[in-house]
Amino acid sequence: MSNTFVIKGTGGERKLHGTVRIAGAKNAALKAIAATVLFRDTVTLTNIPEINDALRMFDLLKDMGGDVSSKKTGSYEVFIPNELATEITPSIAKRMRASVVLTGPVLARYGEVSFPHPGGCVIGARPLDLFVSGFEKMGAKVLMKEDSYVVSAKSGLVGAEIFLKNQSVTVTETFMMAGVLAIGTTVIKNAAMEPEILHLAQFLNKCGAKISGAGTPTITIKGGKLLSAKGHIYKTMPDRIEAGSFLVLGALLARELHITNCNPLHLESPIEILRSAGVAIEIKKTEIIVRAPSHLEPVDIKTHEYPGFPTDLQAPMTVLLTQAEGDSTVFETIFEGRLNYTEELSAMGASITVMDPHRVLVRGKTELHGRKLTSPDLRAGLAFVIAAIVAKGESVIHNVDSTIDRGYEDVESRLRAIGVDIERAEIVPETTAITI
Ligand code: EPZ
Repeated sequence: MSNTFVIKGTGGERKLHGTVRIAGAKNAALKAIAATVLFRDTVTLTNIPEINDALRMFDLLKDMGGDVSSKKTGSYEVFIPNELATEITPSIAKRMRASVVLTGPVLARYGEVSFPHPGGCVIGARPLDLFVSGFEKMGAKVLMKEDSYVVSAKSGLVGAEIFLKNQSVTVTETFMMAGVLAIGTTVIKNAAMEPEILHLAQFLNKCGAKISGAGTPTITIKGGKLLSAKGHIYKTMPDRIEAGSFLVLGALLARELHITNCNPLHLESPIEILRSAGVAIEIKKTEIIVRAPSHLEPVDIKTHEYPGFPTDLQAPMTVLLTQAEGDSTVFETIFEGRLNYTEELSAMGASITVMDPHRVLVRGKTELHGRKLTSPDLRAGLAFVIAAIVAKGESVIHNVDSTIDRGYEDVESRLRAIGVDIERAEIVPETTAITI
């Protein structure tokens, strides 16, 4: 059986109203779970979103011999013993690319790690070359087998200067964590600057790490001993992608939508772009209030590493552009397969011309019609939910459990609370999605 969403569209009527509370950030929580390997004592992680990816990451630690328990929703205690299996369970790791961040702390603490090459991916090629070359620079030997990697550094990792040819989020986090237990100093140059990286560094520093420069292109890590969480509790930062997605929904259809428990400073680029499309946005310290304008102006968007426009918000924003009056272009610079979902939007009535694998032209405004949709990945999946809410008639979105549920906690209850007609149903699957 597979979960689907059945959504009755609004036909574009601006009637959503109320408050949406933002959950803890998936892409921060997954890294904090991996970071528990750097600790000699029990780490308490709070505000962990109840999503499939977080549960799978805990499963990986348990499979390897870690002790994970939870006494209340969203709160977990993790203890990683001195003996741990160093194979990252292939059946899970193959399906969840984020598991690769475990390699840094496991290799740094135990002197070896093995992991499979992540399987086929629906948003484009997801190479591991930067991981391999970084491990080698830190003195490890990397053996590539048919579909897996075995990495060893029996006498420990040594600090190194690692220049990233592409600014990569998970590579930056992996080497920042590896550097914490390496001998000497590690310098990561052309590091990614996403807020989740700074958030992780701040927690690790409280617990004894010596990381400076996180949030800038050069991060320096002085290696040392295992960290101690004594007196410190990790609280996951708010999910900026979830907040940005609700912002788009509000910009399309809200009489007034309050997005609470978020950090507007993490959303400067999407907010600027929405404002230039004519959207009224009010910003408070941890809240954004959005109202849909009577008409939307077209805008050109280009995804970029932080603080630029996030690739993870590209699909919801493209849905918005189908409702803007005029021509907009969308330039996806990070992943070459991340515009494939636009075919489904065209089938709903959007006018989208694919210019090349990285660019589309969106001609608005077009009426969208409800239909059966198969969600290819979690971000495009939520974009389909937004498109279905905008559309006339009923839409059925398949593959919810293997896509949308991976990244958004109980999204349907939160949507229902602001006036969306959405139900979850179980059906026999027609197709199987590849998870990323
Ligand atoms: C992170 O993925 C996020 N995932 C992604 O979110 C997000 O889309 C992406 O960053 C960009 O912001 C997590 O944090 C778990 P990258 P990541 O390595 O780190 C190239 C979601 O929906 N590259 O920063 O895997 C790569 O091809 C997900 O939540 C190499 O060339 O992405 C890409 O062009 C999807 N060699 C660029 O770097 C490598 O060894 C950026 O990718 C690794 C990456």
